Amino acid sequence: MAALPAARVTRLLALAARLKTLRRRRALHQPLRGMTLGLLFEKPSTRTRVSFEAGMSQLGGQSLFLSAADIQLCRGESVADTARVLSRYLDGLVIRTYDHTIVEEWAREATIPVINGLTDLCHPCQALADLLTIKERKGRLRGIKLTYVGDGNNVANSLIEAAAQTGMAISLACPSGYEPDPRIVREAHAAAAGTGASIELVRDPLLAVKEADVLYTDVWISMGQEREQNRRLKELAPYQLNERLAKEAKPDAIVMHCLPAHRGQEITAGLLDGPQSVVLDQAENRLHMQKAILVELLARRGAMDSRH
Ligand code: CP
Ligand code: NVA
Repeated sequence: MAALPAARVTRLLALAARLKTLRRRRALHQPLRGMTLGLLFEKPSTRTRVSFEAGMSQLGGQSLFLSAADIQLCRGESVADTARVLSRYLDGLVIRTYDHTIVEEWAREATIPVINGLTDLCHPCQALADLLTIKERKGRLRGIKLTYVGDGNNVANSLIEAAAQTGMAISLACPSGYEPDPRIVREAHAAAAGTGASIELVRDPLLAVKEADVLYTDVWISMGQEREQNRRLKELAPYQLNERLAKEAKPDAIVMHCLPAHRGQEITAGLLDGPQSVVLDQAENRLHMQKAILVELLARRGAMDSRH
């Protein structure tokens, strides 16, 4: 998996902010007229699905939701054949699936842009949108300390990449056996050398939250891990994001969660619904950032095609 270059992240942030302003003014901006985006989801989704579908429609295009259970893929048709056929109909494809190698196979076989809408390994659209939220609230990204407490899962992995590309200081407190992906951490350390970022993995959540500008957590049981529920609830219990931890962060720290949340598990209701929480802005910014991703990938490609 290769992280986006830092310059592209900066460009996407600027474009997302512009698209957000246009949306606030209800200004019509439809660079994707005539284009169709497919969404092929093997896991449930509220935010990712709806923000991509609404975003595509606001940009003048259309979207087509493809439940994996309703297409021939579920009867054994290969990813390669499906990807090549769908590439003849569509202009872009969002895939939400389990193993990360599946989305890589889609990207290899399709001849249209393939966007990762979440895999077991990472959730890049979420992290890009979160950068927009942090920048809006804190005015900058470089030097901002983000503390992630809990399961070192797909969301944590993408936040590590996002921090490394933008010069943030990320500190993660995860119990033994729940650390983020070692390859992503290694690659992030290498990227950090060029951006001034820092990546720290600790066991003690109280240590991790010291002086944090951003407090972040995610569910303890991700989609597909339901059978591990009992073990996860027990082993992650000391890693709840709660008021005791928040007291150690900066007084103006913001509280983030990608949602859906489980109040009383990974986060207390008091924090999730309290004055420091920015979770609804986070959810809204999925729309603006994903519109930027669509414009960047589809409009440019459309412009290139029309020259041929
Ligand atoms: N945060 C997020 O990706 O939510 P959904 O699972 O609802 O898409
Ligand atoms: N880690 C969670 C994120 C959901 C948006 C999951 O994969 O289920």
